[in-house]
Amino acid sequence: MEPFRFHLFVCTQQKPEGVPSCPASGSLAVLGALDGELQAHGLNREVQLTTCGCMGLCDEGPVMVVYPAGVWYRRVQPSDVSEIVTAHIGKGQPVARLVWNDAPAMKAMAVEHGEKFREAMAARDRAGVLPDRLDQMIRGYMPSRCLLTALELDIFTAVGDGANSAQVGAKINANARATGMLLNALVALGLLSKSGDDYKNTHEAARFFVQGSKDNHRNGLLHTANIWHRWSTLTDAVRSGTCVQSEQEEKPEWKRNFIAGMQRNAKDRAPLMVKALGASNSKVRRVLDLGGGSGAYSIAFAKASPEVRCEILDIPEVVPLTAEYVRQAGVSEQVTLRTGDMLKDDFGSGFDIVMLNAICHMFSEEQNRDIIRRAYRALAPNGRLVVQDFILNPDKTGPQQAALFSLNMLVNTDGGASYSEGEYTQWMKAAGFAEVCRVNLPGPSSLVVGLRK
Ligand SMILES: C[S@@+](CC[C@H](N)C(=O)[O-])C[C@H]1O[C@@H](n2cnc3c(N)ncnc32)[C@H](O)[C@@H]1O
Ligand code: FES
Repeated sequence: MEPFRFHLFVCTQQKPEGVPSCPASGSLAVLGALDGELQAHGLNREVQLTTCGCMGLCDEGPVMVVYPAGVWYRRVQPSDVSEIVTAHIGKGQPVARLVWNDAPAMKAMAVEHGEKFREAMAARDRAGVLPDRLDQMIRGYMPSRCLLTALELDIFTAVGDGANSAQVGAKINANARATGMLLNALVALGLLSKSGDDYKNTHEAARFFVQGSKDNHRNGLLHTANIWHRWSTLTDAVRSGTCVQSEQEEKPEWKRNFIAGMQRNAKDRAPLMVKALGASNSKVRRVLDLGGGSGAYSIAFAKASPEVRCEILDIPEVVPLTAEYVRQAGVSEQVTLRTGDMLKDDFGSGFDIVMLNAICHMFSEEQNRDIIRRAYRALAPNGRLVVQDFILNPDKTGPQQAALFSLNMLVNTDGGASYSEGEYTQWMKAAGFAEVCRVNLPGPSSLVVGLRK
C-alpha cells in the first residue's frame, strides 16, 4: 500500500568532476524547485519527495521517477517543475515531452552502465588507485581554507550587491589577480555566482556571511578561522602530547571572536537546555554559570523565569564581553557577573544549578574532578550539576564530532580532551552525587546531570 498519493524520486548521486551525473546536470536545483512548488501548492503532506542514488541513466540526467505509476522523466530542468506539479501531480497527466518510456532502451543503458561502472571500479582497484573517499578526505582543507580566507578578508561584504574582482580587491586592500582567483574558486564552491566580469553573492552567502545581514555568522566563524591555525600544529601537538603555543591567541580580537563563536553555538541550544532541565516552572532560583562566555545559558534561564538569578564566573578578558551580551538581552537585573578563575576561586554556596557548558573539555581529568568536587559543595540540597559537552562513546572512537573535537582540545589546551559519559559519571559519583543521568539534546552535545541529595 502506498502511504502517499505520489512518491517522487530525484537522482542526486554525486560523481567525480567531469563524469556525467544528475547533480552535474542540475538535479539539486530541480529538487529545490520541486520542494518549493509542492509546498506552494500545499501538496507536501500527500506527496513524498525523496532523493535517490544513480539509476544508470546518467547521460540523460537529471532523472526522476514518479510512483506509484512508475513514470520516468529525463533531462528535467527547474523551469519544467511548475508544469510537472500542476499537470502530473495536480491533474494526473504526465508531461509527455519529458517522459521517457522506452523501457528496453532504458534497461539496456542502465545494465551497460552498471557493467561499465563495476569494470572501472575493478580496474582502479587492480591499479591501486587511491579511493575517492580518501582523496577527498586528504584535500578537504581546500574548500574550508577558501571559505575561511574569504571570511577573514570579508569578501562577501565587499562583493555586496555585485562587483568585479578589481573592485573587490580595492575594497579589501588585496592583490587584484589573486582576489580574482579566490572569487572564481568561491563561484566553483557555489558561494558566489559570476556573470561576465561581475560576481554576486548567492542567497546563502548574502544571508550568513555579509556584515549587516540579520543572520550574519561571520564574527562567530572567525573563531573557526583562528582555530584553523592551531590545527596546523596537530602533528607537533601529537608528538609533544600537549598544545604548541601560538602567537595567534595574543591578538586582541581573538577573545572577541571566540566569545562570538560560543554565542553562535549556544544561543539556539540554551532554551532547549533550560526546557530539558524543566527549569522554567520548577524551584530553580539560583544558578551558577562557570565560564559563562557570552552568557547565553544564563540569559535563557533569566528569560524563562523572572524568579531566577544567575551568576556568571569568567576570566577578566571575557567578563566585559559577557556584560555586553547580557545588557543587549535586557536581563542585567537577573544576571550578575564575577571575574575569577574557576580552577582556584571559591564558587560560593546554595545554588540550585551549577552549569559547566562546554567547559570540561578545556581541562584535564584531575582538574575536572576538582571542579566537580567544588561544584558539589556549592549546590543546595536537591541541587543539580549540569555538564554539557561532546560526549564520547565508551571506547572513545565516536561520535565522529566528539572524537575530532578531542583533537581540537589537544591543539588548543594543556590537558583538555573530550570525555565519555562513564568518565563524567565516575567523577560525579566520586564527588558525592547521588544520581547521575544523561539527557540528550538535539545537536552534537549532550548533558550529564548529577543530583546532590
Ligand atoms: C568554550 S567556552 C564556553 C562558554 C559558555 N559556557 C558556552 O557554552 O557558550 C569556555 C569559557 O570558559 C572561560 N574560562 C576558561 N578558563 C577559565 C577559568 N580558569 N576560569 C573561569 N573561566 C574560564 C572562557 O573564558 C570561556 O568563556
Ligand atoms: S547519476 Fe543520476 S542516473 Fe546516474
